[in-house]
Amino acid sequence: MKWGIIATWRMALEGVSQAAKELEQGVNAGDALEHAIRVVEDNPRYRSVGYGGLPNEHGIVELDAAFMDGDHFDIGAVAAIQDVKNPISAARKLSSNQFNRFLVGQGATAFAQKAGLERINMLTDEARTIWQKRLEEMKNSDLSPYDGHDTVGVVCLDLMESMTAGTSSSGLFMKKSGRVGDSPLSGSGFYVDSEIGGATATGLGEDLLKGCLCYEIVRLMGEGMTPQEAADRAVYRFHDKLVRKKGKAGAMSLICMNKHGEWGVATNVEFPFVVATEEEGPTVYIANKGAGHSTMIERATREQIEKCE
Ligand code: GLY
Repeated sequence: MKWGIIATWRMALEGVSQAAKELEQGVNAGDALEHAIRVVEDNPRYRSVGYGGLPNEHGIVELDAAFMDGDHFDIGAVAAIQDVKNPISAARKLSSNQFNRFLVGQGATAFAQKAGLERINMLTDEARTIWQKRLEEMKNSDLSPYDGHDTVGVVCLDLMESMTAGTSSSGLFMKKSGRVGDSPLSGSGFYVDSEIGGATATGLGEDLLKGCLCYEIVRLMGEGMTPQEAADRAVYRFHDKLVRKKGKAGAMSLICMNKHGEWGVATNVEFPFVVATEEEGPTVYIANKGAGHSTMIERATREQIEKCE
């Protein structure tokens, strides 16, 4: 029996390290994944997830999150939820409902409150200052207001051969109120089938939700591809298609793991990610698009780990 966990961005390192210890001791993939994402959500240093996430154009932090159990295909998701400390926990709770599994806005916030989840003002002083500065910049330049859309996404395999996938994000900085990205959308932001494997995405939601790349990667793994082959095939073909159709493709980085704990990644931007398996302790890698439809992956150096999020 094998366990494994893969997560987007260096910001997941602490959460993955905690979850890896849990998985090694036999904790189930649902708990380990929720704990890993909560660690990121709770850290105000990370400006694209949870507490300290950057707000929408009105200075309000609206958060998206999703949870999927690959044994039973139970999915729960929230979008534009406010003042809830751990959106991933709200998503996971919703995943056990028979109906009403994806709630948005006030409905999502009210559900979390009723479920007893901790509520706090998610806008930190630092995030407010960055927002105010951006408002000023917008008055004096034609700079695009939109920035920062780095979702924490996790795929987890436990010793009982169960798999989960989850995401959490504050979405695009300066987004319109009510804007929803790919992160809470099944197939685009995440997908997992314990009989095959799982995938999650980070990048520009407006482009990611055109491709359903998480579903596609899992489907390709199910057809017999290795995780790396599936990620390369799905991501770079879609990147090229977007360039053909629209003239450009937004940032997109996908991670995946199969039911054997083997993993893969593909990206069209420089992309740090974190892996821990039975064979390797928590490790930060950096991926870049290689020649043709391939991905270059290197272990991050200590300096790179300190520098990047
Ligand atoms: N990928 C996160 C977002 O665009 O909202």
